[in-house]
Formats: sequence, structure tokens, C-alpha cells
Amino acid sequence: MTPRGEPYIPPLKRINYRSDLRIIKKAPPSEKRRIYGRRLGRPLNPARQKAIDELLPRLSYLEEVLQHSTPFDPRTDFSPTTEKLICEIGFGDGDHLAGMMHQYDDKTAFIGAEPYINGMSAFLKQLQEENLDQRRIKVWMDDAIRLLEKFTDHCLDAIYVLNPDPWPKARHHKRRIISQENLDLFARLLKPGADLIMTTDVDDLAAWMVTEASNHPDFLWTAKSRLDWRELPKDWIKTKYELKGKAAGRQQTYLLFKRH
Ligand SMILES: C[S@@+](CC[C@H](N)C(=O)[O-])C[C@H]1O[C@@H](n2cnc3c(N)ncnc32)[C@H](O)[C@@H]1O
Repeated sequence: MTPRGEPYIPPLKRINYRSDLRIIKKAPPSEKRRIYGRRLGRPLNPARQKAIDELLPRLSYLEEVLQHSTPFDPRTDFSPTTEKLICEIGFGDGDHLAGMMHQYDDKTAFIGAEPYINGMSAFLKQLQEENLDQRRIKVWMDDAIRLLEKFTDHCLDAIYVLNPDPWPKARHHKRRIISQENLDLFARLLKPGADLIMTTDVDDLAAWMVTEASNHPDFLWTAKSRLDWRELPKDWIKTKYELKGKAAGRQQTYLLFKRH
């Protein structure tokens, strides 16, 4: 922890990563503070390092996309037969993202953002081990918002934000990923009728996310009764994080919103 009580983020140069790849680099000081959680954890085992070395250069957006002066359509990176594009923000180890790749047919493509290298490597290893179609996925190992800001309007069919960091202290609430500013961005990117799916097992954060999204003019909460946010949505893919929370007695809230 830093003297100000914030998590210490080690310098990125400690990453064992080929220096000619400019996918991860030090963000300019003005942008650096947008990621508040961990980006590095325990050293990667050889299989995870291999997954990073082999797949990240191929599947990641390049930092250069942030320099685009005009927005770009992320659908152009996928096969022309792609009909749906789903984005998962903060996918952790990627259990849910990989699960969706199994669940949906090849007409659906995915974008996953996760700044934590241990999470990214776990997901990429899973892609290799489970032989998932790498043409259906693009990843981003940084703040999702920096990337999403560059996309054209109405390009996404769904955004998943599962168990985002709760930032429980009131003075840190402005760090929460669900905010009016980010909801404006999500509303711009989602097609009319598209889904915004959020979960948490922290009751205070659940109340925060319901309030923020319900107060936003472009989102409609689909819940009709209490069961709708306590019961597992149909075909739900549980993450290890969710299972651990349940084992510890915490209850998951499932918040399903539609973009008007
Ligand atoms: C509590 S974990 C939940 C992981 C996963 N969604 C799950 O449910 O198992 C929250 C994740 O969000 C990621 N995260 C935090 N800020 C982010 C941001 N601005 N963009 C993308 N991911 C972010 C963190 O690195 C962390 O892995």
C-alpha cells in the first residue's frame, strides 16, 4: 500500500515481456490513475508466460488505437459473418468470457479487457487448452474505458461487468466503474435493445449500480420481482470468484439492464 492507503502498482517494466511489443507501456501520467487495482501479481508460471508471449501480440489491440483521431468500428476486426459483438470488462481469470465462447456459436465475437496480467494469462492459457477459436476474440490488457472510448456508436450487443472492484470507502466511490460518465459511454456503444449485465456480491455496490443505471435515461432495469436479481439468469456461467463468494456465504446480485 502507498502512504495514501492506495494499492501499490509496481512499475510495468518488471513484466517479463518482449520489449518490441508496445502493447503494455507506461501510460502518460494523466491516464495512469485510471487503473486503481493490481496489474501484476505472483510471477507467471511457464505455461502462462507462453500463453502471454504467443497469444497476446496476436489477439491484443495495439496501444496505437488510442491515438486514432476518429472512432473505429471494432466489428471490422472479425469475420464478416459475425452478427453479435459482446464485451466483458474486468474478466479476471476469464472463466465467464471463455464460457461464453463455448456457449455462443461462431456468429458471436468477443472483446475482453483485463489489466491484471495474471488474469490475462489465465484466460489466454484457457483459450489454448480449450482450443477456442482465436478469430472470435480480441483482448486489451489495460483500462477498458480507454479502449471503449475509441469505438464507434452502437457497435456492441452486450456489455458484462461482473463483480467489479467495490471500492467500499466513500472517498473511493468515484473509482467505481459504474458511473454516470461510463454509463454514457456504454449507452453510446450499445445498440438499442442491447444488454448491460452487472453482478456483485457486495450489497452496497449492488445498490449503487442499480441506482446509477436506473437513474440513467438510456437504461431500463428488466427486473420484475425480487427473484429477478437473486436468481441465476438462464444459462449463467459462474466464475471462480462468484463460487468463492457463495462458499463464504455471500449472495450474488444479478442486474440485467437493457439499453432503450
Ligand atoms: C473482483 S475482480 C472480478 C473478476 C471477474 N469479473 C469475476 O467475476 O470473476 C474485478 C476485476 O476488474 C478488473 N478491472 C478493474 N478496473 C478495470 C478497468 N478499468 N478495466 C478493465 N478491468 C478492470 C480488475 O483487474 C479485476 O480483475
